[in-house]
Amino acid sequence: MKITTIILAAGKGTRMRSELPKILHEIASRPLLRHVYDTAKHLENNTIKIVVGHGAELVTTALKDLDADWIEQTQQLGTGHAVQQVSDQIADSDIVLILYGDVPLLKLETVQSLISNVNDSSLALLTVNLKHPAGYGRIVRNAAGQVIKIVEEKDATAAEKLISEGNTGIMAVQGKPLKQWLSRLGNSNVQGEYYLTDVIEMAVADQFTIITSQPQTEDEVLGVNNRIQLSHLERVYQQQQAYSLMELGVTLKDPLRFDQRGSLASLGQDIEVDINVILEGINSIGSNVKIGANTQIKNSVIGDHVEILANCIIEDAIIGQGSRIGPYARLRPESVLAENVHIGNFVEIKKSSVAAGSKINHLSYIGDTTVGSKVNIGAGTITCNYDGANKFRTIIEDGAFIGSNSQLVAPVTIGKNATIGAGSTITKDSPEDQLTLCRAKQTSISGWQRPVKLEK
Ligand code: UD1
Ligand code: MG
Repeated sequence: MKITTIILAAGKGTRMRSELPKILHEIASRPLLRHVYDTAKHLENNTIKIVVGHGAELVTTALKDLDADWIEQTQQLGTGHAVQQVSDQIADSDIVLILYGDVPLLKLETVQSLISNVNDSSLALLTVNLKHPAGYGRIVRNAAGQVIKIVEEKDATAAEKLISEGNTGIMAVQGKPLKQWLSRLGNSNVQGEYYLTDVIEMAVADQFTIITSQPQTEDEVLGVNNRIQLSHLERVYQQQQAYSLMELGVTLKDPLRFDQRGSLASLGQDIEVDINVILEGINSIGSNVKIGANTQIKNSVIGDHVEILANCIIEDAIIGQGSRIGPYARLRPESVLAENVHIGNFVEIKKSSVAAGSKINHLSYIGDTTVGSKVNIGAGTITCNYDGANKFRTIIEDGAFIGSNSQLVAPVTIGKNATIGAGSTITKDSPEDQLTLCRAKQTSISGWQRPVKLEK
């Protein structure tokens, strides 16, 4: 059995008040349309066709990696008209599934159970019981409870408007009858549109049974029309992720103040996450890791027993097991820390490796540097890696001790077990095991008088 999924995504999204086509707006840093696509992608034996219109070029460019056929609907004459654009690409024996590009949180299980309701003489329809059905097409049933048609809000009678069962717009049916019904759609209704929903009445006339099913929650079938709805679905999605992480054994101090915009490549046990943490991209987090409040971690690998204190920004970094980072530390791309490394407050690391047991505890910039093991870098150390045009490397060998407030002007090597006196500006390689310092001699002037203010 082959499935053709048609994702409707040509609408304008006027209420977003945006230059960006609505379906490119994001939930968890992923465009709405990509959420729908990713769900559809899980169906086996499925071809995905996406109907685009408004901002079609922007959409197809932004999402060019999707394994889907793009179909352009140059004029948006209604949902039925949108599906008509794909008609000649539908095989008689296909099961056609209709999804909306702006309904991002639909669950795979809901789609699968919908599809399982399709047979030679049935049409599967996803409906939802709503407290406030305004705006939705209403499901009209006969005395026996069978669906006989869908009436759009704008065409509904006062009595029909009282119906609380709404049309989600999501349906599935075999290709052959669908194509026949599509060819017969008219637009004599209040909006002058070709309504896809009119196929329901045609199906009933052709002795089809309309089999309805419902999503697990209303949020699954909510569409995004404005930024308030976008923010609502963002929170729903984030809460779902937070709950599934807790189910996997992560402690979240507050699931309402946790965001993941991406995914986890691996996840250990007994991870504790304080409030306002943002995980972005693809991260790996080991066991017994603590992540402090207000920390962002992007595309990084965090080893076991790592403690990240509050207010850190970590991107494209690898943190070895047992290391302690922060508070207020910034690990920029290509920071590679081995085991038991300590990076303290107001320390920035970039494109540098730090070997086991080394400490950079306060107020330092370490860029383009190779730091050996058991190195101690004092407060206020700066690797001067840039001359305005070129970047140079600093090498600090095992066991070196860099006194506070030192500048290491790259390219430069600090030898094994070397000590650099505090306040030095080091421009030449410093030999191993020796003390190297570079500062003016200290003098004291006896009998010196501090200036005094004259009394007025
Ligand atoms: C539609 C349904 C309504 C249902 C509601 C659920 C019809 C006639 N009505 O109404 O019963 O309760 O969705 O949200 O189907 N689109 C196109 N091309 C078009 C028109 C729409 O691609 O020419 C796309 C839109 O981008 C959107 C989807 O189809 O993703 C639904 O269109 P929308 O205008 O929101 O339909 P509604 O009037 O809300
Ligand atoms: Mg709508």
